[in-house]
Amino acid sequence: MNDHARAGAPYLTEAGLLARTGGRELKSVVFSADAIAGRVREMGAEITQHYGPDADVLVLGLLKGSFIFLSDLVRHIDRPLHVDFIVASSYGAGTTTSGDVKLLYDPTAPIEGRHIILVEDIVDSGNTINRLARALEARSPASIELCAMLHKHIAEGLILEPRWVGFDAPTDFLVGYGLDHAEDFRHLPFVASI
Ligand code: IMP
Ligand code: MG
Repeated sequence: MNDHARAGAPYLTEAGLLARTGGRELKSVVFSADAIAGRVREMGAEITQHYGPDADVLVLGLLKGSFIFLSDLVRHIDRPLHVDFIVASSYGAGTTTSGDVKLLYDPTAPIEGRHIILVEDIVDSGNTINRLARALEARSPASIELCAMLHKHIAEGLILEPRWVGFDAPTDFLVGYGLDHAEDFRHLPFVASI
């Protein structure tokens, strides 16, 4: 797998990759660092087109998984905007959703009357999004749009469909580019299955 993983981020040495994974095997690279960078640039342009120059835009990143995607994405949005974060948790150390979504940190930025872009790493069961969309809508934003790096297309009854999706994802458990398994692998520059 190491040669294959390096194809996902050719600038990583084999030793660097080994050091990052602690030697644990990844199954395969699903989205390379280059593919992600190209798509994030396009998404930034799409978002720029969507909002007028005077829109009061608040980019709300869902921690922790969106932290790398969000930081790359906002650098490609040519509009004035603010950034805040929201923390929800639905997974423990396992790889299946518990369905029980907890709101652990609420943004301090005002929501009312603003154009909210909720940035999510991956839409899986949709539980997190459904819970957050309801909580945010109750605060009377001017609009809420969802921007997801990955979408597994298995969510049923999603009340907020993502307007912008980086890539349609396989239903495998994925890690890297912010995504974790039990907090490991977030700092891989590509997305891999395990
Ligand atoms: P959902 O509520 O089931 O849609 O999933 C919400 C959260 O679960 C996402 O924001 C991710 O943080 C996490 N998650 C879902 N699928 C994966 C995966 O394949 N790898 C890592 N985390 C995932
Ligand atoms: Mg997560």
